[in-house]
Amino acid sequence: MTTTITPVIAGNWKMNGSRASLSELQELAALLTTGDAPRAMVIICPPATMLHAVASQGSTSGILAGGQDCHAQAAGAHTGDLSAGMLADAGAQYVIVGHSERRADHGETDPAIRAKAEAAMGAGLKPIICIGETESQRDSGHAEAVVAGQLAASVPDAAGQHDVIIAYEPVWAIGTGRTPTNDEIARMHDRIRALLVERFGDKGATTPILYGGSIKPQNAREILAIENVNGGLVGGASLLAKDFYTIISAV
Ligand code: 13P
Repeated sequence: MTTTITPVIAGNWKMNGSRASLSELQELAALLTTGDAPRAMVIICPPATMLHAVASQGSTSGILAGGQDCHAQAAGAHTGDLSAGMLADAGAQYVIVGHSERRADHGETDPAIRAKAEAAMGAGLKPIICIGETESQRDSGHAEAVVAGQLAASVPDAAGQHDVIIAYEPVWAIGTGRTPTNDEIARMHDRIRALLVERFGDKGATTPILYGGSIKPQNAREILAIENVNGGLVGGASLLAKDFYTIISAV
């Protein structure tokens, strides 16, 4: 892990959780305040219904809140959508954009994701921009090209001046219990770092690159120790306070 970048551990609760899940947040807060001070910045991205509660209850223990998606427009006739400004108003400081589940379920394209990331920055949020190849793209030897293409097209030029986070999440590793080998993770993160530096210079050298896809308490330590892995974006294992705390402590 690059020492000049503060590691980030972000939990993506996806479409899970209700007010009852706030007990997990309280348990996590207790673990974070009684245990050794975490080396990582801790973010939880709950469903939007719980964003305000997570933001206000998490703040006392340093847990930051993020949305899981935002609309590219600031306001208007977009039934069911939320703007980045609304997420900020609810207490979010981050927002995930371009998660592969949104790319797949909602047909989100790189230009649409770029527009969302721009909207997020405009509202004062830090976007967590997700990229990652499918299994068939990896099997056919195109993983690096796909990821490079997504990075080029979904990260706005303004990322040269604003803080953004990149999350590399191979689609086939999400929720499957399968992960790339450490070498494969290292190679992809090195490539992403090189592309960020090429495009954004010093800013690209300090942009956190998170790994996501089946991070568990059992594998967190070795994955998070890989060069240019500056933290993790955690799905399933972020739902239970003890598991998530173990991953945070692995940094
Ligand atoms: P899992 O940790 O459940 O594999 O999910 C990863 C993910 O998609 C986080 O955004």
